[in-house]
Amino acid sequence: MKIAVLPGDGIGPEIVAQAVKVLKALDLDLDMTEAPIGGAGYEAAGDPLPEATLKLAKESDAVLLGAVGDWKYDKLERHLRPERGLLRIRKELNLFANLRPALLYPELADASTLKPEVVSGLDLMIIRELTGDIYFGQPRGISTLENGEREGINTMRYNESEIRRIGRVAFDIAMKRNKKVCSVDKANVLETTELWRQVMIELSAEYPEVELSHMYVDNAAMQLIRAPKQFDVMVTGNIFGDILSDEASMLTGSIGMLPSASLDANNKGMYEPSHGSAPDIAGKDIANPLATILSAAMMLRYTFNDEANALKIENAVKKALAQGYRTADIVTDGCKKVGCNAMGDAVVAALN
Ligand code: IPM
Ligand code: MG
Repeated sequence: MKIAVLPGDGIGPEIVAQAVKVLKALDLDLDMTEAPIGGAGYEAAGDPLPEATLKLAKESDAVLLGAVGDWKYDKLERHLRPERGLLRIRKELNLFANLRPALLYPELADASTLKPEVVSGLDLMIIRELTGDIYFGQPRGISTLENGEREGINTMRYNESEIRRIGRVAFDIAMKRNKKVCSVDKANVLETTELWRQVMIELSAEYPEVELSHMYVDNAAMQLIRAPKQFDVMVTGNIFGDILSDEASMLTGSIGMLPSASLDANNKGMYEPSHGSAPDIAGKDIANPLATILSAAMMLRYTFNDEANALKIENAVKKALAQGYRTADIVTDGCKKVGCNAMGDAVVAALN
């Protein structure tokens, strides 16, 4: 099992260290190599995705990533900014399928800003297309018009094969779950997503057991807050998925709980928490490492087909929560408040 470990920026190194600790505590044959990405890549090699890092990632079976970004890089030219490194590695590795499961651990029902009865038992899988849409569409840029006024352009585009392959991922995953797919679009306004809806309907003919529904993204944003348990699998494009997955994370108590997997067509994957690099709390040992630890569990499940150890990690996380351990973002009455490192230790201790 060859794993590229890319800690990145901000809290990235701290949270990745906890996931690595948990992986090492399992009896697995792991070959882990670290490399810089994001701001760390820029510092090391003048490039948010250094060539050596990309090479390592390509040669590995899986990538474990922390997070990228820091305000101090916001003034760099766009292609040098940390986020570009992340978008490029997703594109270069063809990681088109982003899985973001939003699961509410019973112990955290009180940590959510929503009423416990609205969120308890929540188990939702958001499937976000990750290598297309307005994130990558051409033309793009900021230019100056003839009248001297500046104009910004981005282009939302999807071709049908891109839509079909992400749809297939959603239907296949739904078959292993509650057999419900909700496709999120804005087909009443945007042609790109009108095509999205058509392709989803065509594809659904191959999955007669799965119940397909469609929802406009604005309504989906509302329904996620109003009655999130109506959803099983949600499938959507890159930009809508970016927004809805942050929203869904709050149902689970904290974005610090939300792992993710980004897969190519052969289940090679990159695993990262859905949250960002939180430079404001970096280096203070207060970040929540659970999303990253849960991402490592997803890595074992999806890339290495090791369901047993994936469950072992997930159960250890549950146990640590049940024992009352909480980082600052999920504190509840009477809990044991711990830092990032101690939370990692609690999960390791709970493995056995
Ligand atoms: C995410 C993040 C990234 C995205 C940023 C950091 C480029 O928000 O993974 O959701 O927009 O995809
Ligand atoms: Mg995001």
